[in-house]
Amino acid sequence: MTIRIETKSGEFELAGISNENILFSGLSKGLTLPYECATGTCGTCRARVMSGTVDIVWDAAPGFARLKRDKGDILMCQAHAPGDCVLRIPSDVCISERPRPRQFSGEITKTRLLTHDVVHFDVALDARMPFDAGQFVVLAVPGMAGGRAYSMVNYAPETDRLSFVAKKKPGGGFSQWMFGGAVQGSRIKVFGAVGKATFRPAVEANDLVIVAGGSGIAGMMSILDCAIAAGHFERHRGRVYFGVRTLADGFYLSELSRFSFAAKGALTISLVLSHENPQRDTHPEFPEIRLDTGFVHEAAARSLEGGAETALGFVAGPPPMVEGAIRVLLKDARIPARSIRYDKFG
Ligand SMILES: Cc1cc2nc3c(=O)[nH]c(=O)nc-3n(C[C@H](O)[C@H](O)[C@H](O)COP(=O)(O)OP(=O)(O)OC[C@H]3O[C@@H](n4cnc5c(N)ncnc54)[C@H](O)[C@@H]3O)c2cc1C
Ligand code: FES
Repeated sequence: MTIRIETKSGEFELAGISNENILFSGLSKGLTLPYECATGTCGTCRARVMSGTVDIVWDAAPGFARLKRDKGDILMCQAHAPGDCVLRIPSDVCISERPRPRQFSGEITKTRLLTHDVVHFDVALDARMPFDAGQFVVLAVPGMAGGRAYSMVNYAPETDRLSFVAKKKPGGGFSQWMFGGAVQGSRIKVFGAVGKATFRPAVEANDLVIVAGGSGIAGMMSILDCAIAAGHFERHRGRVYFGVRTLADGFYLSELSRFSFAAKGALTISLVLSHENPQRDTHPEFPEIRLDTGFVHEAAARSLEGGAETALGFVAGPPPMVEGAIRVLLKDARIPARSIRYDKFG
């Protein structure tokens, strides 16, 4: 079965695939197809069916909201092709030089409660996966409809051990399952690595500005781990703004503290509390971590008003927080749009 893909930069063929997720098939053949969430929410992976038939696996996906379905528009991340078809994508596509994502199997080996609504979990893969700091995978549990995106917390250029953090979402399929207990030993499917909000210290000589809300700190831990290992903070500065509701909602603080210590003063970490007014300037247990109050993007705006024009900006968390933080990085920090990378967790 063959999918022909017409793009602004030429035509490509996906041959020999059998009724698989079209986005994943294209990415695993090295095509730089457009996408962000890879899980049906953002609408970025839009394509138009020019001929043939495509099956939609999640008809209610929020990403369809701005698509012209009557004209044949589909979300490639929610589509399978049961036979030959032709798709048109309104953007440039090329063949990537980077390692190609693919399907892995894995087993959940460990879980650890970090706060009342945040859990850390480790997955052992059946093979080694190459990835860039800041990337994510799509996890699928047998019997649960759809995949869920989770950013790697750890970093290694290639590894069969991945670490994640999941925030409990009321009524959420995957997160409630994680909190339901007895998930250790469960088999899961893992597609990756994907995501463009990446940091590669070998080719990026910049200061880092990181703004994360709640579980958005996940990929930032990977970026910081990678930066420390590469000695990045021997030459550059880093600023991390990590937003949570109260002091008790903070997590990975000993790890962040360790990063700050290893960076010898070049990395500042601010824990920003939206629902509590801290009585002191630094964390009672981790004095390397500063405390601030308000919404995380507002705290970042106060601290960055002097500008950080040459920095790379990384943002992750709930969509409204990400949008607020991007505005701050553009206007207050004056970081150009091309140097801002983000993941919206929703
Ligand atoms: C790039 C990216 C990285 C992320 N990283 C993290 C992270 O590190 N930690 C974290 O806690 N969260 C992360 N998220 C959010 C995470 O993917 C989940 O949305 C969140 O954990 C809630 O999942 P849930 O299953 O509990 O909720 P649910 O409401 O059950 O599902 C949430 C998502 O699952 C998918 N989904 C649900 N039902 C279906 C269906 N029937 N068919 C197909 N798909 C379906 C959709 O994408 C939906 O938005 C990330 C999101 C993105 C886009
Ligand atoms: S990449 Fe398909 S909807 Fe986001």
